[in-house]
Amino acid sequence: MRIGLAGAGRIGARHAAALCALPEVDALVIADADAVRARDLAARLPPESRAAVPDAVEDLFAAGLDGLVVAAATDAHADLVARAMAARVPVFCEKPLAPGLDGTFQIVTASAAAGVPVQVGFQRRFDAGNAAAREAVASGRLGWLHTVRSCSFDPAPPPAGYVPTSGGLFRDCVIHDLDLIRFVTGREVVRVTAAGANRGDDFFRECGDVDTGSALLVLDDGTLGVVSATRYNAAGYDSRLELFGSKDSVVAGQDARTPVTALPERDNGARDVYSGFMERFADAYDAELRAFLDVIAGRRGNPCPPEEALEAFYLAEACELSLREGRVVATEEVRR
Ligand SMILES: NC(=O)c1ccc[n+]([C@@H]2O[C@H](COP(=O)([O-])OP(=O)(O)OC[C@H]3O[C@@H](n4cnc5c(N)ncnc54)[C@H](O)[C@@H]3O)[C@@H](O)[C@H]2O)c1
Repeated sequence: MRIGLAGAGRIGARHAAALCALPEVDALVIADADAVRARDLAARLPPESRAAVPDAVEDLFAAGLDGLVVAAATDAHADLVARAMAARVPVFCEKPLAPGLDGTFQIVTASAAAGVPVQVGFQRRFDAGNAAAREAVASGRLGWLHTVRSCSFDPAPPPAGYVPTSGGLFRDCVIHDLDLIRFVTGREVVRVTAAGANRGDDFFRECGDVDTGSALLVLDDGTLGVVSATRYNAAGYDSRLELFGSKDSVVAGQDARTPVTALPERDNGARDVYSGFMERFADAYDAELRAFLDVIAGRRGNPCPPEEALEAFYLAEACELSLREGRVVATEEVRR
């Protein structure tokens, strides 16, 4: 397969390496708004990957691609996805599909009309622990859930330049937890109450964003959910999903590398914690791209279509509204 990659930044470089390692990928075509970035990334890949760099991002759509991976900055996603759909090229697009609800909604409508697969990059769905948690819920082993907790704690903030186009903490980061809770419980969230804080670098506040946030969710079967995120968890990257039920409780993402010290402390040795999401979800990122090739080849259905991304986006939007207005927000208020 000939796969295009739009965006050669942090996650683009990760996806490029993963795509090169897939035997089905014969050629990779890499483009970035900053052509130097694209050329640097291509030069770092193994020579046998035969990565090509066109003169401009537009050239991707005339490159005879079998599929396009969109890993550009969030505000470029909607346009790139629309152009790929017009060229009838299946797309894998990093989350979120667009910075706002209108753009997300437009992609959902356009992709349904075009019939071109668009897979959204919610890689946590491909994490072995999260998949097992979903099975535990579906099997009835946990009984009825009383509480679900999901966290996304980054050890350090992204570069300041990333923040203005990120969409804000809830749309950029917490959206993973919101998608995961829907995916694992199979339930919908009916209302949210969010709070945020700025105790770190000023650039978050200057963009109208928060560096730490939490939301209380009420699910349609009465389960309560808590999602939490921060850009300042210096102990290490922490992404855990805890499910507490009437019969049993499970946690996904808790292992020897989880950056939490049990008290009283018994072992003061240095711990090898997760450095970031790239390391924590390495297998899941690989698995979602393998799934994308299967989608292109028609070997499987789309594991994360735009409609699912829209549902998560409604919840992120409800959290942002709740944060801004300091009140409970029903999902119906933001739904189109
Ligand atoms: N799924 C995940 O866990 C995960 C993790 C990190 C980032 N992301 C998402 O991936 C996207 C990129 O994040 P990042 O951390 O790699 O950002 P980044 O800033 O490191 O890289 C973004 C790249 O996009 C390029 N770009 C901007 N506009 C472009 C356009 N029109 N065409 C082609 N390239 C363009 C920039 O020049 C830059 O090289 C974001 O949408 C982010 O939400 C997802």
